[in-house]
Amino acid sequence: MQPWHNPGRLSVGASRFASGSFHTEELFIVPDAKALIKSEKRTLVWRKAIGDIEATVIKMYRHRGIVNWHRERLFNFRVQREYEALRVLESAGVPCSVPLLWGCGSAAEHGCFEILVTREIPGVTNLKEALRAGTAPAVPDDLLMLFDAVRQMHQCGIYHGALLPKNILVTLGPQRRPTFYLIDLIKAIHFPNNVQRTVMAHYDLLSLVHGLTNLLPGINCDALLSRYGLGQTAIRELRDHLVWYRSTRYLRNRLAFQFKIWALVTRWHKRLGLGTREKVV
Ligand SMILES: Nc1ncnc2c1ncn2[C@@H]1O[C@H](COP(=O)(O)OP(=O)(O)OP(=O)(O)O)[C@@H](O)[C@H]1O
Ligand SMILES: [Mg+2]
Repeated sequence: MQPWHNPGRLSVGASRFASGSFHTEELFIVPDAKALIKSEKRTLVWRKAIGDIEATVIKMYRHRGIVNWHRERLFNFRVQREYEALRVLESAGVPCSVPLLWGCGSAAEHGCFEILVTREIPGVTNLKEALRAGTAPAVPDDLLMLFDAVRQMHQCGIYHGALLPKNILVTLGPQRRPTFYLIDLIKAIHFPNNVQRTVMAHYDLLSLVHGLTNLLPGINCDALLSRYGLGQTAIRELRDHLVWYRSTRYLRNRLAFQFKIWALVTRWHKRLGLGTREKVV
């Protein structure tokens, strides 16, 4: 596939739609402004009913350029990694956005792009907005379920890599307890083993607790971390780290590089029957 020769084409990497149920070209036509959730130079997110039955959310990364396109083709597209990580979560019963399709292509108005289609979760808002607006669960008791979901995610070997309140969706209802959904796994890394109690889990938790304490100053996260499965010593270590933790671009890139190497080494160890090598904190 050579996207620069095929303006207006989409090549589907994986799809769970019945073949012929819609034209793939429909997918990268952004509908009216009302459907847009996010509109930035490089990223577009919008709602779309596919085949008029499936309510979906489409995320597009665009203007990637030929060099990036080849690099991603070699190392897997970002949307492919997100699609596969979400499939792992979905099959383990972890609440998340259900992946339906990923693909890449080019179009005159977008240049080279990648898209990920997920099933729309009705009646949700992201946790950051909900906490800011005061409509989300602000007491630790209501957030316990979120830490159950994070534990389950780590138990099936997924490191999220951007576990921030804005990447968690929450259903809001006056009567019922909130349900949390993990989304935006573009930075996720899939390990062949449980990563709970590893340095990967430590950084995911650090990022989440840092985000929550910024939005809810004074919140006591001990109950949440204990629900996740941390003992008193690990909770104390995480709290100490939180005092000086800053999520810089350098740190994020360094961790991503380091964890990708560990995932690779762990996979090879497993393949060669040497057992798994876990980086435990
Ligand atoms: N499956 C879904 N169901 C409902 N809404 C969704 C779904 N997936 C994404 N959204 C909406 O789209 C927004 C952006 O999604 P996502 O975080 O995946 O993209 P992003 O480009 O990383 O955006 P941001 O930089 O704001 O995190 C979410 O905050 C949410 O409002
Ligand atoms: Mg996001």
